[in-house]
Amino acid sequence: MAVGKHWQILVLLGDGIGAEIMPHVLRVLDIVSISDASFDIITHDFGGRSIDLHGTPLTEDTLDQATKSDAVLLGAVGGPQWDDLPMEKKPEKALLSLRSELDCFANLRPALSFSPLIEASTLKPEVVAELDVLIVRELTGGIYFGTPRGVELRNNLRRGFNTLVYDETEIERIAKVAFELARKRRRRVCSVDKANVLEVTQLWRDVVIEVHRSFKDVELTHMYVDNAAMQLVRWPKQFDVILTGNMFGDILSDTAAMLTGSIGMLPSASINANGQGIYEPVHGSAPDIAGKNVANPLATILSIAMMFRYSLDQPLLADSIEYAVEAVLAQGLRTADIMPPNPSNELHLVGTNEMVDSVISSLVGTDT
Ligand code: IPM
Ligand code: MG
Repeated sequence: MAVGKHWQILVLLGDGIGAEIMPHVLRVLDIVSISDASFDIITHDFGGRSIDLHGTPLTEDTLDQATKSDAVLLGAVGGPQWDDLPMEKKPEKALLSLRSELDCFANLRPALSFSPLIEASTLKPEVVAELDVLIVRELTGGIYFGTPRGVELRNNLRRGFNTLVYDETEIERIAKVAFELARKRRRRVCSVDKANVLEVTQLWRDVVIEVHRSFKDVELTHMYVDNAAMQLVRWPKQFDVILTGNMFGDILSDTAAMLTGSIGMLPSASINANGQGIYEPVHGSAPDIAGKNVANPLATILSIAMMFRYSLDQPLLADSIEYAVEAVLAQGLRTADIMPPNPSNELHLVGTNEMVDSVISSLVGTDT
């Protein structure tokens, strides 16, 4: 498998548990390279760490390197020590600029329930068992990037404002991604908007309907975002692909994460039109638990699987990493976030290191 391939991967360590987990998880790539795939792995600072060392959350050099890479693997950014910086200098700004500069407009956030973890969800087992929802979130437009934006003084009152704007080409391209992905799944797309109140999302709905004309084999439904939030916790299995804008997608994907038991399990891919991608766990930098060897590395490992699937065109390798994760869960290994309150004797609490070691052993045991 994967004979003679060579890829350039930029690793951005980030902050908190992002920087802690990544070096361990990169050992997964060492195993994969045994099977004749080689990687040029370049590591750069990013986010808060880059602010401290280079005075900016994203250096020109890092951006340049990202542009030249096949894929970017990213930890997580942020921490309380940088919270009071102005918006333009915050660690999160690095993430937003990177997404935007690489034009990674399609953010794929799968919420998959792993059967050994059903008890870890706060929802009833029958609600989450065998859940498989894919959130397709537009990532480089909408209110996150719209202008004008800011805080100003008007009539002696401070006034804050942002702009929720989409043009039709932005809606069209993300809708196509959602329909194409639905074709490889259960062929159902639910587009989430707030078309009863916001004109921009009425346009969203109109354009999605237009794009759908070329995807008649896929079922299209529409839902207002407030209802979608409710339906996601009421009966999430009604969804296959959820297509939505940047901010609604941000919120709904955290909700979907909880269905799977822990946000520590969720990977994500952000892809551009050339197949280049940024791969990162959905969880944040969790500074409160950083450096304690307790963080769950599985979302980052599953992000590597997504990288193989979407940027490096190695679906079998992606499958084997996902199987390896399932296997360690089936063996009863749990990091603290996925350990139920009254665990049975078959479950074993492990740290970040040990979890990665076990996934690697399981991978070595399969034919990668
Ligand atoms: C996410 C995060 C980011 C976002 C933050 C850290 C800027 O919440 O990836 O979901 O809002 O997109
Ligand atoms: Mg978020």
